[in-house]
Amino acid sequence: MDRYLVFGHPVRHSKSPFIHTLFARQTQQELEYGLAEPAVDEFAQALRTFFDQGGKGCNVTVPFKEQAFTLVDCLSPRAKRAGAVNTIKLTDDGVLLGDNTDGAGLVADLKSHGVTLADSRILLLGAGGAARGALAPLLAELPSELVIANRTHTKAQQLAAEFCDLGPVTAQTYEQLAGPFDLVINSTSASLQGELPPLAPALIHTDIAIYDMMYGASDTAFISWAKQHGARQTMDGLGMLVEQAAEAFTVWRGIRPGTKQVLRELKRNLGVI
Ligand code: ATR
Repeated sequence: MDRYLVFGHPVRHSKSPFIHTLFARQTQQELEYGLAEPAVDEFAQALRTFFDQGGKGCNVTVPFKEQAFTLVDCLSPRAKRAGAVNTIKLTDDGVLLGDNTDGAGLVADLKSHGVTLADSRILLLGAGGAARGALAPLLAELPSELVIANRTHTKAQQLAAEFCDLGPVTAQTYEQLAGPFDLVINSTSASLQGELPPLAPALIHTDIAIYDMMYGASDTAFISWAKQHGARQTMDGLGMLVEQAAEAFTVWRGIRPGTKQVLRELKRNLGVI
């Protein structure tokens, strides 16, 4: 049977095996999907061993995405832009192809929620790997403006400079931000420490769409905060997780699984519904 897995550390709580097993059942593909948690300095060896032993493809998550970028034979344009690889496929020619489906997953999830990106003013919070992966796919949707704000302003400036050939992207400090924005995407890891990005509450209004790339069994700190200040449309990163997986599955198998039912089952599994 064709073998796939996700590399990460820690990875025990990954939902990827659950998601890909449902995709495989739905599309009647014969495959198995597992987990691998190599020591941080043993990822390169573990990756080589997996493919030497007949593995067909893998996902890569924290903290290995940047390292995976350096280990593959060939990079897709979107992986090159993202500077990170979350999906690897062994091609029929024996080439290890590195791809990145995170940004496509974000855009697909935003669209599935009915969020309009064309001609919109988007505020992207954070300038780490998650923000970098999102920029090219977001700019491809032709927003009127995309502003990056980050605690360390120089990192936002560097990102804006790197992506300004793709569209109207600028960097501003949190203090400089002036609304109204149509969509705020939180790509910071602040929620992991139960913290909030230092965003002025006045930027939140009833018609704004709020997206947090993080997710949990209950609202993230950022989503709770945005709701308190009047945001009516709030979305967490669970849909992005399923959509990036669907994109990876399509890269591997050439068949696109449906995501709605899988997202529902994942929510049930997490106890969200
Ligand atoms: P990832 O790959 O998930 O993006 P990362 O590269 O470590 O992770 O980036 C984390 C991002 O969250 C950074 O933009 C970080 O801001 P700094 O560049 O100033 O470190 C941001 N971040 C983390 N904790 C934050 C907090 N409490 N408030 C605001 N931003 C925070």
